[in-house]
Amino acid sequence: MHCENMLGGSVWLCQNRCVVLLDGSLIDAGVVVRPLVRADGDALMRYLSADPEIARWTRIPWPYTRGHLRGFLDQVERWRSGATDLVCAITLPEDDELIGCCGVHRIGEASPARSSLLANEIGYWLGAAHRGRGVMQQAIGLLSRYALADLAIPELNLQTKVGNAKSQNVARALGYRFVRTVAASEVDDDDSDHDRFVMNRADYEAARGPLVAIAPERSAP
Ligand SMILES: CC(C)(COP(=O)(O)OP(=O)(O)OC[C@H]1O[C@@H](n2cnc3c(N)ncnc32)[C@H](O)[C@@H]1OP(=O)(O)O)[C@@H](O)C(=O)NCCC(=O)NCCS
Repeated sequence: MHCENMLGGSVWLCQNRCVVLLDGSLIDAGVVVRPLVRADGDALMRYLSADPEIARWTRIPWPYTRGHLRGFLDQVERWRSGATDLVCAITLPEDDELIGCCGVHRIGEASPARSSLLANEIGYWLGAAHRGRGVMQQAIGLLSRYALADLAIPELNLQTKVGNAKSQNVARALGYRFVRTVAASEVDDDDSDHDRFVMNRADYEAARGPLVAIAPERSAP
């Protein structure tokens, strides 16, 4: 199999597919973004079964059950081995405990017709106790930079349900640009109207300065 190491070793192309999307942690002063693993299951269950606000604004089911969790963790493993979607835990630097989740979906695909989940779409949620401190801005700042610079995704999509002002604040603060409202009637798999935002290199650089690749930090073997 022909393999080519791209961009400082963080992305490998094998037969034109990336086989490792994120091999390490993305770290900023106040936050760490690293691949989600099965051991995050208990923390995921605690947050997602306790806070209907997360399900209200995302595609996560409510009430959230152990069956949902098992299905999600299996799906994350399939996504990881197929290198189609990157799902990450958000943690604080002082410990490795999941406090939220973020990801990029349908990486490198064309957006399917009449689907609410676009290609190269970012999603996220944060545990209630950690909101209002800029943690998510930092996490999505890291993930967006990684996706644009290291994964070389030309344009990221981000959609919020109409009325999700908190999430739109995060998007706008990072340089995501509002495109339009997508009505539920335009898709077959979602009952909500969504506000669609995008960010490319120029948007990122206008908001945050030069886009530079991140070297993920690998823990010692
Ligand atoms: C969307 C969501 C992640 C936003 O969380 P958040 O805590 O508001 O986002 P951040 O962690 O970036 O914090 C930003 C807030 O902290 C404040 N803040 C405090 N210190 C800050 C700092 N140093 N830097 C940046 N912001 C700071 C900001 O003013 C902002 O508050 P405001 O929106 O009232 O102005 C959270 O509300 C959530 O998980 N909701 C449920 C799920 C959801 O909606 N997911 C998104 C689907 S599209």
